[in-house]
Amino acid sequence: MDSPAARTHGRPAITLSGIAYGCDYNPEQWGPETWREDVELMNEAGVDLVAINIFGWSQIEPRPGEYDWSDLDAVIELVHSHGIRVNLGTGTSSPPPWLTALHPEILPTTADGTTRFPGGRQAWCPSSSVFRQHAVALVEKVAERYGSHPAVALWHVSNELGCHNALCYCDESAAAFRGWLQRRYVSIEALNEAWGTSFWSQRYSAWDEILPPRLTISLGNPTQAIDFHRFSSEQLLDHYRSEAAVIRRHSTAPITTNFMVTAHIRNLDYWSWAAEMDVVANDHYLDHRLSDPVAELSFAADLTRGLAGGAPWLLMEQSTGAVNWQPYNIAKAPGQMMRNSLTHVARGADGVSFFQWRASQQGSEKFHSALVPHAGTDTATWREVVELGATLDRLDEVAGTRVVADVAVVFSWESWWAGDGDARPSQGVEYLDQVHAAYRALHGLGVTTDIVSPDADLTRYRLVVAPCLYMVSDDQAAAIDAFVAAGGHALITFFSGIVDQDDRVRLGGYPGAFRELLGIVAEEFAPLLPAHQVTLDTGAHGRWWTERMRTTTAKVIASYLDGPAAGDPAITRNIYGAGVAWYVATALDPEDLRDVMRTAVQEAGAGADGPESDGSIEVVRRAGAGRSYVFVINHSERDLEHRVVGHELITGERVVDLLRVPAGSVRVVREDTTP
Ligand code: GLA
Repeated sequence: MDSPAARTHGRPAITLSGIAYGCDYNPEQWGPETWREDVELMNEAGVDLVAINIFGWSQIEPRPGEYDWSDLDAVIELVHSHGIRVNLGTGTSSPPPWLTALHPEILPTTADGTTRFPGGRQAWCPSSSVFRQHAVALVEKVAERYGSHPAVALWHVSNELGCHNALCYCDESAAAFRGWLQRRYVSIEALNEAWGTSFWSQRYSAWDEILPPRLTISLGNPTQAIDFHRFSSEQLLDHYRSEAAVIRRHSTAPITTNFMVTAHIRNLDYWSWAAEMDVVANDHYLDHRLSDPVAELSFAADLTRGLAGGAPWLLMEQSTGAVNWQPYNIAKAPGQMMRNSLTHVARGADGVSFFQWRASQQGSEKFHSALVPHAGTDTATWREVVELGATLDRLDEVAGTRVVADVAVVFSWESWWAGDGDARPSQGVEYLDQVHAAYRALHGLGVTTDIVSPDADLTRYRLVVAPCLYMVSDDQAAAIDAFVAAGGHALITFFSGIVDQDDRVRLGGYPGAFRELLGIVAEEFAPLLPAHQVTLDTGAHGRWWTERMRTTTAKVIASYLDGPAAGDPAITRNIYGAGVAWYVATALDPEDLRDVMRTAVQEAGAGADGPESDGSIEVVRRAGAGRSYVFVINHSERDLEHRVVGHELITGERVVDLLRVPAGSVRVVREDTTP
């Protein structure tokens, strides 16, 4: 990626030229004969970056304090001699059996107080000092041994921190949680105030009475649960820091860990993690339980770019075909792996990696796809793997360029944790669904969108969309307010601005923090039963949510014809300072939301990079240093044409006016003139 733009914190950016092509490589599952074949095949496919030692602990430290480097040494030398760079795992992701046998107190505990046993992976408590001590000792050995090895291009701390063990409720976690709370609130009175403990006789008189939000007989305290999420995210980040600090003493190579910006993992607030990564890396797997996995992939890629502050990032894992952990594991269609990979590149990735190199013969992931499938290399998968390598080589010159967007969607892990709380007005409203719905509307309009933190600087955008932003601090609300007052446009959807950072309702009518900005006031939520829908006087339909509200300064764009809020406004538009603020008070049907979004986009003067479609056509531009590249991704079953002039990198053709993109294909054009 060799990108000056990558976050390096004064350290060198990863020094791979062009777009990296990589995978997790688990040679410990195979013998030396296979390793030799592996590196030859890697060269054939153009794989130039392998993540090794991810689950290596029990091999390299087979007994306490006894190290065996022979295999790891041999593998590193072998890949190095074949020109392949190493993304070196610290190996601490899963403790070896001897450690949990010696120290069962490191095992994680669930909310009901049950210990989770070893035998799987990540069986450790993020607050365990014994685990931390052993993990850091291992990192010391690994970093000492390989810290200056020329093959090491990147360090991979642990693996998907918090994938399984983010929330641990054991006694050691309880003590650490209390310490964290003491630092946050200083006095027990301040904690009582923040948690609203006058309710249900929950008032604490001393710190040692406080527990993690273990399973209760009734609903628990919502602010306690939110603080536990904050604490847990910080504990794992602190673990990352401890490992990274050791590596820094031994190596100048950049350090990262693989995020899980994907639909089903929500425990870590990556906005607070991202700045500590030398390069942001993400794992993404298509989730077939979602209604629109294609749009979700683009959303995840855009969110990862947001985490990277717009800089190029690395796709650390995806699959060549099916995974093994969903109820129905769908194989990728021919060409889909290429399209998905290039969607990540279009949206800012300077590297495409996979889990894993060779499909395992044993273990619980033996039915997970890989670059080398069980059936070997005379397979469609392998041919696509080789083709992808060649294609990424042709795209090397794109590395280092950036995506530029006029529109931003605000995304908040805190709103996800808090807004999806146990005692919310409607279980039918889920934060991520509503964020995806807003994103899909923009995606279908062909609008390139940044995904930003609620603390982001919004000034460079024309339109800011805040879906279900339930929890906002005063400062975050003020930033959206100031953005609109200065001439920006905002579109906010229902259940936004409701509470402050302590989950305390903002009084005086909903949507609390945004009442004045939106020029409305609601006195009561009026959610709908799952089978119900409401009709608006524009003919649009809404589900899940309505509210009894009136305008103060806003203009009514649409009202409910029926339902519990019949006659009340459903969509409003308010002129505020030099800008405009839209409110959408129900979960509009996708086409109806797109209609509102289209108007908001046009009025804001935000441009679309591509045509409107059902989401099957994606057009994204990456630009920088006087160059610009247009990616056209055709997920549809028909050929399409796109107006652009330049040089197509995949076919090598000159495009004089209309680029033809065959069904299911991707084209990337270096434009003749930079816009
Ligand atoms: C995660 C992990 C990998 C592997 C894959 C399977 O991304 O990091 O070790 O388990 O999932 O999809």
